[in-house]
This record gives sequence, structure tokens and C-alpha cells, in this order.
Amino acid sequence: MASLFSSKAALPRLVSYSTRVSVPISRCRCTGRAYSTAEPPLLTTSIPAPHNGRILVLSLNRPSVRNALSVALVSSLNSTLAEIHSEGASGPTRAVIVASNVDSAFCAGADLKERQSMNTDQVQEFLANLRGSLKALEALPIPTIAAVSGTALGGGLEVALSTTMRIFASTATVGLPETRLAIVPGAGGTYRLPNLVGMSRARELILTGRRISAPEAYFLGLCNRLVEVLPEEGESMEDLSRRARETVLQEAVGMANEICEGAPTAVRSALKAIGRGEDAENAAYNEILTTEDRIEALKAFAEKRKPVYRGK
Ligand code: COA
Repeated sequence: MASLFSSKAALPRLVSYSTRVSVPISRCRCTGRAYSTAEPPLLTTSIPAPHNGRILVLSLNRPSVRNALSVALVSSLNSTLAEIHSEGASGPTRAVIVASNVDSAFCAGADLKERQSMNTDQVQEFLANLRGSLKALEALPIPTIAAVSGTALGGGLEVALSTTMRIFASTATVGLPETRLAIVPGAGGTYRLPNLVGMSRARELILTGRRISAPEAYFLGLCNRLVEVLPEEGESMEDLSRRARETVLQEAVGMANEICEGAPTAVRSALKAIGRGEDAENAAYNEILTTEDRIEALKAFAEKRKPVYRGK
């Protein structure tokens, strides 16, 4: 099967940011699923990672509906994540960023237009696929980062809750408005949100359906980093949204690069151990004890040079 990440497709607008990214964007490979006519709903960009491998940027791409999650988008996300999983423990993908290719939104949640014509069984099937996708995202053995600069509502926020870390631009607005639509969060919101912000705050956010600004989200612990993007004199809303999207993506690529400066073996083992108690930590340490990367780190220290990790 041809790799999802090697087909040729139109270069997403990602090319317009590059100033603070340590890897020249011209070296990125931008790919998408090979749909014959319409733009693919998910774009994949590959950026070389420090030492070895790559950072993959998965960009949601349904501009006309604010990246709402359709059957096709979820299916595309599912197969992309399945392919990353299939790389196995020492695969080339070292970090994944989930971003938006659309200035105005990260993701407006479930596609409510598509939903109108769905029967109960089809809604159940859609939910099962979305839940499976987000579980697959959460279970990736590598760090994942959501880069959010616009609206992330309902399923859109649930996507971001399933990544290891979240970076919000100050322009972002997030919320779980499901009760206002006579439903409940259906793809992890009721259990992933409390894990991040605590039960009391999660209850308030879910029961009121309130949309909150990025600074409040940062204060609540919902995102790891808040990137301030203030309007410049005479700047249009469109230009501000574009700049915010590019800035937050740049910050996410920066964070991914920072992580990938570490040994691939150690990053994966640490990720597995974090928050899982003493036994998990001891097992993780045992795992890295026999790696070539650990020996290389000691050698590089003695020789006063930067280590070169091979992920072995
Ligand atoms: N599903 C399908 N289409 C959606 C959508 C969704 N979740 N959210 C937005 N759209 C569509 C709109 O219907 C509109 O289409 P149109 O041009 O054919 O009328 C288009 O996207 C632009 O939306 P608009 O509301 O004009 O843009 P905006 O920038 O002013 O506001 C949102 C964007 C996301 C804040 C607003 O559209 C919204 O509140 N959407 C609903 C989000 C929601 O409740 N999601 C939870 C689902 S559980």
C-alpha cells in the first residue's frame, strides 16, 4: 500500500509561516489523501525532526463548515492514525500536531448539517468512529499537540482534549455546548475534561455549555501554553485570524522540536510512565537502560558534544 505520507498534493497554507521554526518549511512534505476532485478534509505535513524521523502536522481542512467533523473527515483521521500506529514502537513519526488549515476555526464540532439527514443508527456509527479515532489519537506512543487559534467546540474541543498537550492562541474560544443542542458530549468530553481541569470546573463548563476564552482556558489548566496574538493597528479580523493560526502552529512545531531533541527511546518511555505510578516508572527505566541512545548520551557528555540519537 502506498504510504499516506508520500503522495503528492497541493501545499497547504502552512508554507506562510517559517520565521521561528528551526526546520526550513521548504523541507516539509505536504500530503493529503488522494481524493479526486474536492480538497481532502485532512492534510498531512511532514517536518524533519531533530536527530531522526519526522513531526507530522495533521491539519483539519473543511473551510466551508469551520472544520466540522463529517463522516469523511473522521474516516480520514482514523486511517491516518492507524497508519501512524502501524509504524510500531520505533517508527519514523516522533510527534504529531493536530492543527487547522482554516483561519477562522479549529473545529466547530460534529457536522450538524450532515447530522440532519442521519438516522439513529448512523449517528451511533459516526460516534463509534469518532470515539475510536480519539482513542487512537490518545493512545499514540508519541507526544501529540493540539494547536488551537480559533473556535473549538463540542467534538472540536474533544479532539484537542485527546492530545498529550494543547497550545492555544489568545484568539481561541472553546467550549462543550452540547446540552444547548439537547445532547451530551459524546467523544470523551465528560471524562477527559475533568482529568484536566478537575470535576468541579468540568461540571460547570459542561452543564452551562459556556464558551470560554483562551486566557480563561489557560487559567483553568485546559491548555499548556497560551500564545498572545494581539491585533495590530489597522489589521483586519481575517489577517489577525491567519496570523494567530500561523503563530500557534509555529509554537506547536517549536514544542515538538524541543521534545524531539530528547532521545526518541526516552521520550516514548517517559510518555508511557507519566502519571502511572512507581511500577510504570521502574519499568520505563529498565526499558531505556539497554538502549544505544543512553550509551550515546554518556559518551557525548564525556566528549563535550551534542548527542546524536538514533532511536535505538
Ligand atoms: N456543522 C455544520 N456546519 C457548521 C457547523 C457545524 N458544527 N458550524 C458552523 N457551520 C457552518 C455554518 O452553518 C455556516 O454555513 P453557511 O455558510 O452555509 O451558513 C458556516 O459554517 C460558517 O458558520 P458561521 O456561523 O457563519 O461562522 P462564524 O465564524 O460566525 O461562527 C461558529 C462559527 C463555529 C462559532 C458557529 O458557526 C457555531 O456556533 N457553530 C455551531 C457549533 C456547535 O454548536 N458545535 C457543537 C456541535 S456538538
